Amino acid sequence: MPKSVYIHIPFCLKKCAYCSFLSGLNPCNASVYTKELVKEINFFYKGEKLNTIYFGGGTPSLLEIKDIERILACFNFDKKTEITLEVNPKTVDLKKLKQLRSLGINRISLGVQSFDDNLLKIINRTHSSKEALKTIENIALAGFDNYSIDLIYGLPEQNLENWKKTLKIAKDINPPHISLYGLKIEQGCGFYLNPPKNLPDDDMQADMYEMALNEFKNYCHYEFSNFAYKQKYISKHNMTYWNIKPYWGFGLGASGFVRNKRYQNETDFEKYLKNSTEKKHYESSNLLEEHIFLGFRKTKGIRTDKINRLFNIDFDKKYKQQLEKYKKSGCIQKTLHGYKLTKKGIMLSNYVLCDFLDDTI
Ligand SMILES: C[S@@+](CC[C@H](N)C(=O)[O-])C[C@H]1O[C@@H](n2cnc3c(N)ncnc32)[C@H](O)[C@@H]1O
Ligand code: SF4
Repeated sequence: MPKSVYIHIPFCLKKCAYCSFLSGLNPCNASVYTKELVKEINFFYKGEKLNTIYFGGGTPSLLEIKDIERILACFNFDKKTEITLEVNPKTVDLKKLKQLRSLGINRISLGVQSFDDNLLKIINRTHSSKEALKTIENIALAGFDNYSIDLIYGLPEQNLENWKKTLKIAKDINPPHISLYGLKIEQGCGFYLNPPKNLPDDDMQADMYEMALNEFKNYCHYEFSNFAYKQKYISKHNMTYWNIKPYWGFGLGASGFVRNKRYQNETDFEKYLKNSTEKKHYESSNLLEEHIFLGFRKTKGIRTDKINRLFNIDFDKKYKQQLEKYKKSGCIQKTLHGYKLTKKGIMLSNYVLCDFLDDTI
């Protein structure tokens, strides 16, 4: 049974222009929502001892302490359990961070996005770079040894010069963990409806990514978008996803992976509130495809011995053509137990991985 739990909190102070997550709902409904969420958890979760708990969103830091406490009380965990909460700088002060720490939360994931105030305005963030810096200071003061900051590259009006400044500030802070996301404009977000001017093109995005790789050379780059200052700061929860391990997903629109099947919860807020304990609709997915797609995201790559055992295949034989093609072009490299993408392969991962996926259908 799953040893990891994802909890979705869909509320935000306001919607950022790039965000198409199930988020941005008015936090005035947070307590009613928590009540239903707790019902759902108590109905499905059977008391398994947990390795990781992840509060994602939306903005989980908008929840009142008593609501987070009520949710945590549903679970069996101890001090070794990695408990992450996503935080928006505008929603916490030192007092609240200390309260979160005393509830047992031991990892913060902070949405910074950029240290450039002009860009923060363009993307409709609620905070300034100064407020983000103050929050980082408070996170450490509140006793969090483990925290992560999110940065986005490829924003409108972003160029190599202002990106470098953001990277420099991040490097000086030396956070235990950094997530770097390339901007994706998906259906439903503000930028999709009102396309912004001066968006960096794909080449510029690649240059920005490369600049970040150089800047964070002293970090362990363990996944396309993720960097840990030391091994112990690698996100255990996110590794669950990339290693295709089971996890519960609770809350509005949350996804889960249980007994080798995936499900997604109701995405309509009113309907979820009426029936949070509704039977989950499990669906089979192409697990071989997922092992390849998600496994190659890790810089260590995939273990073909494991894949061969799980799917009763000979990976090298099945993908002979692709392996030869991408080894020759310098996108894929052999490792002790399998294969990994090279830096060039990571940059071209969309093309490379699609070539593998076509064969598994
Ligand atoms: C669910 S948000 C949680 C953080 C918190 N809500 C906040 O914004 O402060 C997780 C992260 O996803 C990233 N993100 C969201 N939408 C994105 C997009 N369209 N392109 C790239 N990154 C995105 C942002 O870096 C964000 O901090
Ligand atoms: S990035 Fe975070 S704060 Fe902004 S809309 Fe998305 S979930 Fe909400």
